[in-house]
Amino acid sequence: MDVLERYEPIIDDFEAFRAVCERPLPSVVRVNTIKATPERVRRAFDEAGVEWEGREWNDAVLEIDASPGTTWPSFHGWSHGQEEVSAIPPVALDPDPGQRVLDACAAPGGKTTQLAALMDDEGLVVANDNNLGRLSALRFNTERLGVTAAAVTNQDARNFSLKEFPFETFDAALVDAPCSCEGTIRKNPTTLDDWSEGHVRSVAGVQKGILRRAIQATREGGEVVYATCTFAPEENEAVVDHVLDAEDCRLVEFDVGLDSAPGVTEWNGEEYDESVRKARRYYPHHNDTGGFFCAKLEVGA
Ligand SMILES: C[S@@+](CC[C@H](N)C(=O)[O-])C[C@H]1O[C@@H](n2cnc3c(N)ncnc32)[C@H](O)[C@@H]1O
Repeated sequence: MDVLERYEPIIDDFEAFRAVCERPLPSVVRVNTIKATPERVRRAFDEAGVEWEGREWNDAVLEIDASPGTTWPSFHGWSHGQEEVSAIPPVALDPDPGQRVLDACAAPGGKTTQLAALMDDEGLVVANDNNLGRLSALRFNTERLGVTAAAVTNQDARNFSLKEFPFETFDAALVDAPCSCEGTIRKNPTTLDDWSEGHVRSVAGVQKGILRRAIQATREGGEVVYATCTFAPEENEAVVDHVLDAEDCRLVEFDVGLDSAPGVTEWNGEEYDESVRKARRYYPHHNDTGGFFCAKLEVGA
């Protein structure tokens, strides 16, 4: 089955989209500003003969002509291999130093460590994942990148309990949800081999549960970012539309400085709240990246 074909009605310049999905992804790293500056990392790449190219939207993101894990900056914990679009959700959430932030689906920790860096490693990031086997990579990455402001928990985020913590709500939350991963096709060309509508429907149920709990656990006026690396509106706008009805929250605009398309308000005979246009769809042909969906919600407003 040609899964991507189902998105032809909602994707601009579908031919360009198809063509870029056939190409491998550029090799990209994020500078870990807890341990180094972008200037220091660029100099280290120069000294090691690694070619790099900066990104206008984010000076911590660099494309390099080497495998991310094989370089000296990576060895020192100054850089972390992270897909460019994967750096969007923490930037959209934009947490402040000293805040309490829930990362509901955190392993293996690319965004946990980015959140901590954006907070100058001050405050608390609760990095949760229900998959025990993935927590070792999460802990390894937080340690390698010198993050001290993180606590790791192993809960089902749909029923996340704060009873271990001396506070009752978070200032902000990130839900980087499990999904059908359609947007990772450039990294994993076989990713769509096991795709089914049944899986999309079942993972959408999990996503709704996780996002609802993250909103409930965030204080009034706090912000929650919902993200997936998939194109399916069932896992994106439909999930956001569901929580707009079920929880006290509203969508807010954000702009990280990359090209994107607005959220869709109609899909397969379903209509979603008009405000889902404020969500952003990052298609591979927009910025020569993988695919991502990102929505930002304010709680209790
Ligand atoms: C897209 S990955 C997260 C990637 C991670 N945020 C990063 O940037 O490195 C989704 C994660 O959700 C976790 N997950 C799936 N169902 C969950 C649940 N019910 N509660 C908490 N985590 C869950 C998976 O184990 C997986 O690690």
